[in-house]
Amino acid sequence: MTTRPFPDGFLWGAATAAFQIEGATREDGRGESIWDRFCATPGRVLNGDTGEPACDHYHRWRDDIALMTALGLQAYRFSIAWPRIIPQGRGAVNPAGLDFYDRLVDGLLEAGIRPFITLYHWDLPQALDDAGGWLARDTAYAFADYADVVVRRLGDRVKHWITLNEPWCSAVLGYWTGEHAPGIREGPVLTAAHHLLLGHGLAIAAIRAASPDVQAGITLNFSPADPASDSDADRAAAWRHDGFFNRWYLDPLYRSAYPADMLELYAQMGQSPPLQNDDMRIIAAPLDVLGVNYYSRAVIRDDPQAGALGYAYERPEGEYTHMGWEVHPDSLRRLLERLHREYAPAALYVTENGAAYPDAIAPDGSVHDPDRVRYLARHLIACHDAIAAGVPLRGYFVWSLMDNFEWAWGYSRRFGIVYVDYPTQRRIPKDSARFMRHVIGSNSVAA
Ligand code: FCB
Repeated sequence: MTTRPFPDGFLWGAATAAFQIEGATREDGRGESIWDRFCATPGRVLNGDTGEPACDHYHRWRDDIALMTALGLQAYRFSIAWPRIIPQGRGAVNPAGLDFYDRLVDGLLEAGIRPFITLYHWDLPQALDDAGGWLARDTAYAFADYADVVVRRLGDRVKHWITLNEPWCSAVLGYWTGEHAPGIREGPVLTAAHHLLLGHGLAIAAIRAASPDVQAGITLNFSPADPASDSDADRAAAWRHDGFFNRWYLDPLYRSAYPADMLELYAQMGQSPPLQNDDMRIIAAPLDVLGVNYYSRAVIRDDPQAGALGYAYERPEGEYTHMGWEVHPDSLRRLLERLHREYAPAALYVTENGAAYPDAIAPDGSVHDPDRVRYLARHLIACHDAIAAGVPLRGYFVWSLMDNFEWAWGYSRRFGIVYVDYPTQRRIPKDSARFMRHVIGSNSVAA
């Protein structure tokens, strides 16, 4: 075993999202979100689970900060529920909503924990969805107005802002597969994606105007693709997957243009993004940080009969998590190196990385999660390798601080380094929490 030290100042954190942990969906003037509506629709979420009470974090946030302190966390990435701040999506601001996050931020700062705020982690106000959701161009402008309200209130203390979490998921799962709210199938997904990106660009401008000294960026989810074989057809198929998943977001943000090969492919299918005026310039606003969410890779085989883009997923031999996602740390290293080489973001953070396993409380009251410990250790080594190769990776946030509402999977998938016993809301740090505390304390990982 050797010890791999991380650079001085490397930031260690954990991540959550509002709808997944807060509960209190009807309290203090919060408006309805598309996820409340989706959960209430039979058949959408496993076991009929809802955002109530989740981890009851809305009431337990003080204890949760104490938990973070006990783990030695230096940073905490959380999201703000838009419908708490502006219950109808646009217009009247709800002071109680702002007050909640104001207290949370102060509590974190008192504990010496740096807040990283995501403005949009999927809980769109239902009223905006009633007016078209992300298919309506106006939603992008409403998002920027909301960003302005929040950053004006918190920007004096919060120095790291992320506009959107994973626009691919919002667009594709929300408007194409229907697996996520608002649950539309085979809708105009490029329209949704374009308005999300436009909203991001407008929000970046709003953030900079409201608080010029902050670091602002976006978090994307990546699916690095390996071809199933060396054949030209499989390589081309993997490149299409990359275009659909990764380049469709990276290229507008960092090159101010959608990838030409994908534009052409989509045009053949009668789809195109609804570009207006200087949208591409707005979307390509310079960013201080790129957030990288990484869980797994994809192995792609050409298959003209499969899906809209003519490729299928292989399931290679290997290790898989409870989500059925392959454990493949080297793809994280290659992804970070590629992003640095091809897009050169000013700074990168891994804003999510982690794994679900079917954890249980052992007879001695503890939660042993050796698979997660191994998953984290191997991905941290991948990060370390990327840094050694020159990637400006500045921090790592484990997904997640605690078990929580895993979207369409409800409470059936546990990603936390802290176990949540939902009936009692008791938090039990897992072995992986102790592992992370050690990593953070020593600023190093053993390899
Ligand atoms: C990501 C989401 C996050 C969590 C993890 C498992 O796509 O950003 O909220 O659900 O997956």
